[in-house]
Amino acid sequence: MDTVKYVLSEDQLPSSWYNIAADLPSPPPPALHPGTGQPLGPADLAPLFPMALIMQEVSTERAIEIPEEVQAVYRQWRPTPLFRARRLEKALGTPAKIYYKYEGISPSGSHKPNTAVPQAYYNKQEGVKRLVTETGAGQWGSALAMAGAFFGLEVLVYMVKVSFNQKPYRRALMETFGARVVASPSEETHSGRMILAEHPDSNGSLGIAISEAVEVAAQDPDSKYALGSVLNHVLLHQTVIGQEALMQLEMAGDYPDIIIGCTGGGSNFSGIAFPFIGAKLRGGRDVRVIAVEPASCPSLTRGKYAYDYGDTAKMAPMVKMHTLGHTFVPEGIHAGGLRYHGMAPMVSHLAELGLFEARAETQLGCFAAGVQFARAEGIVPAPEANHAVKATIDEALRCKEAGESKVILFNLCGHGNFDMQAYLDYAAGKLRDHAYSQEEVAMALAGLPSVS
Ligand SMILES: Cc1ncc(COP(=O)(O)O)c(C=O)c1O
Repeated sequence: MDTVKYVLSEDQLPSSWYNIAADLPSPPPPALHPGTGQPLGPADLAPLFPMALIMQEVSTERAIEIPEEVQAVYRQWRPTPLFRARRLEKALGTPAKIYYKYEGISPSGSHKPNTAVPQAYYNKQEGVKRLVTETGAGQWGSALAMAGAFFGLEVLVYMVKVSFNQKPYRRALMETFGARVVASPSEETHSGRMILAEHPDSNGSLGIAISEAVEVAAQDPDSKYALGSVLNHVLLHQTVIGQEALMQLEMAGDYPDIIIGCTGGGSNFSGIAFPFIGAKLRGGRDVRVIAVEPASCPSLTRGKYAYDYGDTAKMAPMVKMHTLGHTFVPEGIHAGGLRYHGMAPMVSHLAELGLFEARAETQLGCFAAGVQFARAEGIVPAPEANHAVKATIDEALRCKEAGESKVILFNLCGHGNFDMQAYLDYAAGKLRDHAYSQEEVAMALAGLPSVS
């Protein structure tokens, strides 16, 4: 019998998160205070995050225990299945073996609840009443809205305006879970009003929405801020994905030659890849790892590795990362979750250490790959996930040309069931590819802060 799904039982759910900081040859450069430019201490972050998450942010322990209450919620959908894409392999006529970890099985449709749930849990533990956040595609906002409902927390979401207009059902989902959703930039915050004064028709960006959320959280003692990617603790929470995949591939009797993930802020990529990269750093098998980003927001492939602000209004810490500049506003592509000007500092550090390679793909090629995948496997990927699908198909076709039977693992980080307008636009020929000229990239980078 040709097995299609490798399924773990609930008692095989990982009981700890994997912290790659324990296995790196050098730590990433420290985050700096946006006002003083000095390295940040835990106290600087306390107005925004609960102490348990701040301690995870700076931890170098290899294994961090997942609280039982969080494991209980994870069991609503975890462990997630690992699929062998036998139908896609056949459609491509490739000798490659393609596996995908399917995170779209979560109730809100992506990997984002893996961190939304522990973030809500630790905030509740420390007496927080309300979480304030931003969302691009709406996947993160939906995940946090659900986690807030589970733990009895109010949730306020600043949703990037272009997605707010493109994805009314994502907003409806967040509201169904009890969250309040505001289109960003908004008139509700100083940062929003500043942007609107200069650009009344602004489509918004993750950098702007982060500024609004941070501003509101910092001013309210009962509120804290929650971020859906970029930070170390977020990447940490996502490592349940890769840890499960390691066990499932063992069941299948395989080990990946290539691991592929799409990158916005870097969290689903880290989730699938870090446990394998960690195994390699500890003397285990080598693996080629590929991060795939959109050509219209190419932080890893065309950005600069430099200190920059995490948000547009310069309220978030300065971190060393691959960045296109905090004022960069990407095109309104449908992969809204990938429209972030920077990259997680930890992912950027790994890129500098040469632990993975990156490539950029345009949206038409990604949608074509997503449609091909849907017709073979029956799952419509989220537009973000299509970037990983595109690279997977390209690698599988390369195997076909070379007659090689490589094992490819990719993270299908979310379904696209709320993204059908994007697929309609693609089918109607309304989507355009866009790449930045060298001048445009240089202009956006001109505003980087100078850090000695
Ligand atoms: C389905 C999906 N994939 C990927 C991303 C990008 O985020 P990250 O790089 O942190 O995984 C998002 C962000 O919203 C998303 O919704």
